[in-house]
Amino acid sequence: MGRAFVYVILGGGVSAGYAALEFVRRGVSHGELCIISDEPVAPYERPALSKGFLLPEAAARLPSFHTCVGANEERLTPKWYKEHGVELVLGTGVKSADVKRKTLLTTTGETISYKILIVATGARALKLEEFGVNGSDAENVCYLRDIADANRLVNAIQSCPGGNAIVIGGGYVGMECAASLVINKINVTMVFPEAHCMARLFTPKIASYYEEYYKSRGINFVKGTVLSSFDFDSNGKVTDVNLRDGTKISVDMVVVGIGIRPNTGLFEGQLTLEKGGIKVNGTFQSSNSSVYAIGDVAAFPVKAFGEMRRLEHVDSARKSAKHAVSAIMEPDKTGEFDYIPFFYSRVFTLSWQFYGDNAGEVVYYGDLSASGSTFGAYWVNKGHIVGAFLEGGTREEYEAIAKTTRLRPAIEDLNELERQGLGFAVTF
Ligand code: FDA
Ligand code: NAD
Repeated sequence: MGRAFVYVILGGGVSAGYAALEFVRRGVSHGELCIISDEPVAPYERPALSKGFLLPEAAARLPSFHTCVGANEERLTPKWYKEHGVELVLGTGVKSADVKRKTLLTTTGETISYKILIVATGARALKLEEFGVNGSDAENVCYLRDIADANRLVNAIQSCPGGNAIVIGGGYVGMECAASLVINKINVTMVFPEAHCMARLFTPKIASYYEEYYKSRGINFVKGTVLSSFDFDSNGKVTDVNLRDGTKISVDMVVVGIGIRPNTGLFEGQLTLEKGGIKVNGTFQSSNSSVYAIGDVAAFPVKAFGEMRRLEHVDSARKSAKHAVSAIMEPDKTGEFDYIPFFYSRVFTLSWQFYGDNAGEVVYYGDLSASGSTFGAYWVNKGHIVGAFLEGGTREEYEAIAKTTRLRPAIEDLNELERQGLGFAVTF
């Protein structure tokens, strides 16, 4: 049993949705394009899962956040795929791929062949077991990668009103979930091994602003240590968390956000890998010319930095999808991807954006001591601005730091940049 398509997108997440929109805009015929996803629902905006989905009231639920809702794009409901002749093969995993034969074998036993494959398999959440701790299957231990995880998390929250949660990990999932738990009136302790939160991006000074704000909302921090084991009750629920520094903390629920691994397994030994992902060129083509990779799973050249990067953020998932489809359908008119990384987060009433690279010396501006204030930073490397961060900006101010980072102005005097602060970007 088998079907054949011209284009197959493997994975049904953010980048898959944006790739489908671009294919349809550029005019694929009915029956030419297929998306295969092991999730049971059409592609959706994953960032909603740690934000609107977890609200105690008026929570976001599908179909309201299918891709590509927002910013003048269409919302791609299952009806949209049907109307545009895009085959959605949902609730179906791909268990093996043969890039020489150009075939995929699904968990239902079907062989699906393609002329062009776009790998959009994203990533999976790292499990505690990979760090030597057992208990991921306990009903009050929650991860957050897909909608099934998010439903489980909502159930856990609802089953312990006013209860105590431990959040393991001080990255994006940890920070956004901790805020959502507090909004749900759950008491939160965050535990992570680093000296401060968001260690991959924030400087100690920036982290301190957010930690102080979190403390003012009642969140406790236990830093510089990791989980060593759980205690369970007779039903297998976690009752206590034991930390390596000897602390024992009683809990009603646990949220784990300790990083991800790109889903490259189907292609190991078949495609060249780099930075944990599938290595692609400036048009997202892998080492096999019929296979492209986009989103979290792709390691691509970032022209501005002169090096390969694998990004784990929604803006690059959306834009890499669009660029890859353009390269596939109009190769002569599509140049190399020229992208400035963009990350953002929203927690409580706070909201920040970051553009570029966090390399070099850091120049701060604004009031970092007052909670709720506007502040930011520039990163200056080899005499040029290469990165910019802003908390609490207006749309025009965010656009200004984005533009400044893209144009990489030369900076001779760091003190003068500090004096001008946000004004430098706004008037640049
Ligand atoms: P994505 O993970 O979206 O999709 C991969 C798809 O492939 C899934 O549907 C998966 O099930 C499927 N799949 C994998 N293997 C398969 C197989 N063998 N067979 C079939 N299907 C398979 N970023 C940001 O910039 N701002 C933000 O606020 C947030 N917030 C946020 C919250 C939460 C909770 C998460 C988990 C992530 C974010 N992100 C984010 C990150 C952002 O969501 C992420 O970068 C994109 O979803 C990546 O899109 P992809 O399409 O690459 O993977
Ligand atoms: P992350 O990489 O942001 O953070 C991982 C964290 O795990 C680290 O900060 C560290 O504190 C912690 N950690 C590592 N080893 C540990 C250990 N042994 N014990 C305890 N903690 C440990 O990953 P994440 O927070 O899990 O997020 C998952 C993915 O979702 C990322 O790709 C992220 O980009 C994405 N995401 C992005 C956003 C956003 O951009 N606003 C929001 C949510 C999720």
